[in-house]
Amino acid sequence: MENRSQFGTRAGFIMAAVGSAIGLGNIWRFPAVAYENGGGAFFIPYLFALLTAGIPLLILEFTIGHKYRGSAPLSYFRLNRKLEWLGWWQVAIAFVISTYYSVIIAWAMSYSVFSFNLGWGDDTEGFLFGEYLKLDVSAGQTGSIVPGVFIPLVIVWVVALGILFRGVKKGIEVANKIFIPALVILFLIIVIRAVTLPGAVEGLNAFFKPDFTKIADPSVWVAAYGQIFFSLSIAFAIMITYSSYLPKKSDITNNAFITGFGNSSFELLAGIGVFAALGFMAQSQGVTVQEVVSGGVGLAFVVFPQIINSFPALNGLFGFLFFASLVLAGLTSLISITETYVAAVSEKFGLSRKKAVLFGGGLSALVSILFATQGGLLFLDVADYFINQFGVAFVGLIEVIAVVWFLRKLNPLQAHANEISDIRLGAWWKVCLGIITPVVLGVMMFGLFKVNLL
Ligand code: PHE
Repeated sequence: MENRSQFGTRAGFIMAAVGSAIGLGNIWRFPAVAYENGGGAFFIPYLFALLTAGIPLLILEFTIGHKYRGSAPLSYFRLNRKLEWLGWWQVAIAFVISTYYSVIIAWAMSYSVFSFNLGWGDDTEGFLFGEYLKLDVSAGQTGSIVPGVFIPLVIVWVVALGILFRGVKKGIEVANKIFIPALVILFLIIVIRAVTLPGAVEGLNAFFKPDFTKIADPSVWVAAYGQIFFSLSIAFAIMITYSSYLPKKSDITNNAFITGFGNSSFELLAGIGVFAALGFMAQSQGVTVQEVVSGGVGLAFVVFPQIINSFPALNGLFGFLFFASLVLAGLTSLISITETYVAAVSEKFGLSRKKAVLFGGGLSALVSILFATQGGLLFLDVADYFINQFGVAFVGLIEVIAVVWFLRKLNPLQAHANEISDIRLGAWWKVCLGIITPVVLGVMMFGLFKVNLL
């Protein structure tokens, strides 16, 4: 344990944590969720969720990883041996997500190439669901691998596993230090271009116009907490794993604040870019913004190609920038999620990192091929159902209740964090974790909330 891998610099750790947090969820989930839940008014519950659950839980996970210095199952085991299974449960969820997350990155990669000749044609919906995916889900068909996805999928896995192969400092840290600044630059170019398009103002008005009546609606609050949990990659064992690679002297509380605010800033930026572009599209089609809003796969792979089609100039370049951003945002999340089970497997079975990457990552890569077949969306539904039923709300609730109430570990963890951090944790942290977070997660579990990514 003494020679456990470590991040070389604080910035390296923060880039990696932010890299995990910033993902497809920021780009296509947040704008749609905010729009549907009160627009500008959504920022109130959203900020509240960030401060009362997102950052407190992030601090908790950073502290657990840092104090017990192990992958999630090992850290939980050291916290209390009865909790090891919780780590494995989170690892299993991470594994499932990685199998389909990788396929979506592969789509984005092939769309970044299509961008140059607008290869999706005029009927972008028909292209995705008819031509490209060739699905006959209702007939239960799985069919063969969709052409055009397989090669990008191989590239995605080779890049992700290649980076993990090189270890924490030379692989994860170096990659994130390059990918995250690159992503921010690409995305800034997109946003600047998007807000200067005709119609952009209409889009931004639609996005920011506050509907304060929504604040009284509990489901809006649940949506805000849900977005925060998913977007910050908490309760997926990821942040425990990453923080276990921090040097002994690390200001973990401060790191959690930077990660939380960094992720939310990017989310806001994405909302502005996406809605400015939607405003442009609405204007060019002579419809209202409301009629063109969507989120998830449809936004990225149906609506955006249409926007790119009707672009005034340099549409290929704009398309490329957009899909390349999706690839970068997705890859850094995929790397974090794969590291979670690579670390767990390697520690449990005493395997070298390289072997664990090969077996763990390799298995995930093989399973991911299922989602690249013509029945891919059917499998996605199954995976999505699994994540919804047993995912973040369920494990997150067990995590906080076990740590705070059953094992009463909050005091020692607080002392650990305070010893090495500038910001001191006090009553705020305990109330958030002991009361607010479990109540919200409990409500989510009873069905008000879904973590569906797609
Ligand atoms: N935080 C990532 C996003 O916003 C999603 C994610 C969740 C990635 C869990 C990995 C694990 O897209």
